[in-house]
Amino acid sequence: MNIEVSIPTTPAPVLRVEGLTKQFKMHHLKRTLFAFDNIDFELREGEFILLKGENGAGKSTLLRTLYRSYLPRGGHAYYHTREGVIDLASAADVDIAVLRRREIGFVTQFLNARPRVAAEEVVAEPLRLAGTYHAEALVEARRWLGAFGVKKQLWAAYPSTFSGGEQQKVNLARALILPQRLLLLDEPTASLDRDARNALVERLTQLKASGVAMIGVFHHPEDVTGLIDQEIALKAVKIEDQ
Ligand SMILES: Nc1ncnc2c1ncn2[C@@H]1O[C@H](COP(=O)(O)OP(=O)(O)O)[C@@H](O)[C@H]1O
Ligand SMILES: [Mg+2]
Repeated sequence: MNIEVSIPTTPAPVLRVEGLTKQFKMHHLKRTLFAFDNIDFELREGEFILLKGENGAGKSTLLRTLYRSYLPRGGHAYYHTREGVIDLASAADVDIAVLRRREIGFVTQFLNARPRVAAEEVVAEPLRLAGTYHAEALVEARRWLGAFGVKKQLWAAYPSTFSGGEQQKVNLARALILPQRLLLLDEPTASLDRDARNALVERLTQLKASGVAMIGVFHHPEDVTGLIDQEIALKAVKIEDQ
């Protein structure tokens, strides 16, 4: 008799955040605003963290700090690359640039549309930069534009002429076409219709199954209930006199 024994394996760590703190100095008011203070968490491959908190609680600031648009005031964010561990809190800008190209994605609701570039080219670009042939990348781009509900007549048109909702769909297709290892999502669906939100959740589910780790803030958190492994609640900011 053959007995198959499956040994459960713990997914590999992607990010370990220790004591991460961000404050904004408001010199004109002689005050310090703590956007978040002493945050700790660990995120593994295929895990999804829902970030919660009221308006102004520091959710966007935390995501931007992990993407290193902001430098933290203190603490560490150890990111595990395939080659080794790098602290996002202190890594050199050149290393951050490489990580942003290859491993860490940031998705907002805003499309940074360049003028006179067709929607399908905008969406295909990440695949092309990663070495996929143009024709193949375009096929994939059109598939994702369709999935997010961008009408076929618009695929070859310029997104700068699109409505806000249409631009958001192009943005999502572009942001999610190429799987990254870590995805930071800042209210990507804020004003999207249900079909586009469903398409997003379907894509996030696929990405999670393939091992992509995610941290996200959602305008409709009920959409992603089935994906959540951990929740982090941020509290309103503290202000101290200097
Ligand atoms: N660049 C900045 N300079 C000064 N204060 C900022 C800056 N960015 C955000 N803040 C402040 O930090 C706090 C947290 O903002 P934010 O992270 O955008 O909150 P959330 O995304 O949870 O609504 C707010 O009080 C906001 O005004
Ligand atoms: Mg925000």
